Amino acid sequence: MTRLRRASAVFVRLDPRSGTPLHRQIYDGVRGAILSGTLAPGVGLPSTRGFAEDLGVSRTTVLLAFGLLRAEGYIVATEASGTFVARELPDALLVAARPPKAEAGYRHPSLSRRGEAIVASPRSGPRIGSRPRPFRIGVPTAPRIAPAPRPFRIGTPAVDLFPVTTWARIAARHLRRITTVMLDYGEPGGHRPLREAIAAHVGVSRGIRCSADQVILVAGAQQGLDFAARMLLDPGDAAWLEEPGYLGARSALVAAGARIVPVPVDAEGLDVAAGVRRAPRARMAYVSPSHQYPLGVALSLERRLALLKWARSASAWILEDDYDSEYRYGCHPLTALHGLDPDGRVVYVGTFSKTLFPALRLGFLIVPEDLVDRFLMARAVADQHPPALEQVLLTDFIVEGHFSRHLRRMRGIYQERLEALLDSARRHAAGALTIRSADSGLQVVAELAPGIRDVAVSAAAAARDVEASPLSLYYLGESLTPGLLLGFASVDAERIERGMRQLVAAIESTRREGKGGP
Ligand SMILES: Cc1ncc(COP(=O)(O)O)c(C=O)c1O
Repeated sequence: MTRLRRASAVFVRLDPRSGTPLHRQIYDGVRGAILSGTLAPGVGLPSTRGFAEDLGVSRTTVLLAFGLLRAEGYIVATEASGTFVARELPDALLVAARPPKAEAGYRHPSLSRRGEAIVASPRSGPRIGSRPRPFRIGVPTAPRIAPAPRPFRIGTPAVDLFPVTTWARIAARHLRRITTVMLDYGEPGGHRPLREAIAAHVGVSRGIRCSADQVILVAGAQQGLDFAARMLLDPGDAAWLEEPGYLGARSALVAAGARIVPVPVDAEGLDVAAGVRRAPRARMAYVSPSHQYPLGVALSLERRLALLKWARSASAWILEDDYDSEYRYGCHPLTALHGLDPDGRVVYVGTFSKTLFPALRLGFLIVPEDLVDRFLMARAVADQHPPALEQVLLTDFIVEGHFSRHLRRMRGIYQERLEALLDSARRHAAGALTIRSADSGLQVVAELAPGIRDVAVSAAAAARDVEASPLSLYYLGESLTPGLLLGFASVDAERIERGMRQLVAAIESTRREGKGGP
């Protein structure tokens, strides 16, 4: 058996100034030499003592490195005869395990039909990166991390104005005294004090009467939509979706195997009578009644009552998405549809993504009493509950009054930004854009002149560093009015002004280049 003598210094070069710990450098050197063939399978290695002397490090450092190499299968040690390079290397096994893609007839194991449908379903704008390459519905694109907001990103609040110092102070307080609550499995419904704080908050701000038991914490509204759809729909069930509608909801319904029935939205919100005509026996209706996404209209009282009446007679569920209802400017707050529901038909979905920050990934369901136990059992099958620390921090943030204070402050700032957007549109975009329904939420719909393609304008705007989501993206059928969805929350008035000029230039160039037409 060949045994190397004083060879360690040849394949291990230590750099004491590098940030990499010494044992890791030894590990890297030996592993590299094994993988390159410098150290052949079966070759005996110097003793750890010899290695340590060669390299001028402690034996403990070498033992650490050898421990790692042994654990990963690069070397083997026998008590009698020392340490050797393994005859069968883990990397060789890995290479062998890689699919022989090039071989004729090779087929990947396939995704489930559900998996394929999920991958092909459209996702919503803000989280898929900022450059709206011409959107092609149904063509999967891997989500990318969006860079810092540009005007007029939708769906993102002003995260730079979040009171991080307060949040950090609360976090520091809890991290100094970590309790078992933060370390152990918790209730599947979420941290009880947070459920109580949410029940109290929605009672006052959304007119919802519910107990803390009915509040179930989820990782953002998207998980709530996905979870509720899977719990309440069987594959093939018809589900009403607002047309145009929220892509995240559409994807959740697709994931549940639902047959989506688009139901038109007009100035009074979802056209309930049209829904009843198209799919009277649907098992669910997804609605965003306080601020319809994307058109921004509110569901009228008459339609709310009609929807509840239909749900009762059809034994259907209503999935109420109340994503940004806390933002209404200069007009009365609207109560949630849930508050009008006498029969326990409405499953309410709330989120902290718009009121605090989206990376928090905390939202909540408010479920009818008779669903509570079954939903809790199913939460335990899914991810059990969201991380405890964030829930604990959020509880204090709400209970100590920071949440309401932040909301009040942001309402004022968003109202100013909305006015800045309307003002700059008046000054720069008269004739190019008509802004409608601008008294609530975090984005507006800007109609384009008939005949111009919103997808083309969106692409031209992206080239000018402006995000303008094409309205047609949100339709399952054809959209009759071309338009853009413009978010105004995440950048200040100055950037809104610059963004508007760029947007108008994008509209003009689209027209000039004749790409506006169908
Ligand atoms: C209408 C609507 N519903 C739900 C959500 C999802 O929010 P979350 O970040 O809580 O998943 C969004 C986010 O943009 C939204 O616009």
